Amino acid sequence: MLEWFLDHFDTGTIMTPLIYVLNGPNLNLLGKRQPHIYGHETLADVEADCRKLAGSLGLDMRFHQSNREYEIIDWVHEARETASGIVINPAAFTHTSVAILDALNAFDHPIIEVHISNVHKREEFRHHSFISPIASGVIAGFGTQGYQLAIQRLATLIKSAKA
Ligand code: DQA
Repeated sequence: MLEWFLDHFDTGTIMTPLIYVLNGPNLNLLGKRQPHIYGHETLADVEADCRKLAGSLGLDMRFHQSNREYEIIDWVHEARETASGIVINPAAFTHTSVAILDALNAFDHPIIEVHISNVHKREEFRHHSFISPIASGVIAGFGTQGYQLAIQRLATLIKSAKA
């Protein structure tokens, strides 16, 4: 029965697009770590808000955080096979990781880079991002609301790519 269905219908048109929201090191401490910079919301709060918004925009979402560079790379590789877009806050890896840049370079759909704080108002070493040159857009300094803005933009880009 399933085979018959797959043969007779273009399942691509009925599948819900999937997005990945990836978070780098120390973001597990969100809400506890330097709240004057990163605010009081926890990463679980951010995930819940993102999930709600993604659902309302007709998107499925996978939300991950890791303190390990290789795990973020593995999720980007996974996203290559499954996802229509990535929102990523690479945290400190933004300023150091050619490996995450290379992984994202192998991803053929839109990428939005998010920073909770305004990195340009902070130390000089935070002004350089390895990721920005390949991102469709960069959001910095909007607090955790930046994730919502990024998902909204991704939804627009995914919709226009499908049209
Ligand atoms: C950050 C900014 C980075 O410079 C920093 O290392 C982080 C968080 C942000 O969301 O503002 O861990 O990406």
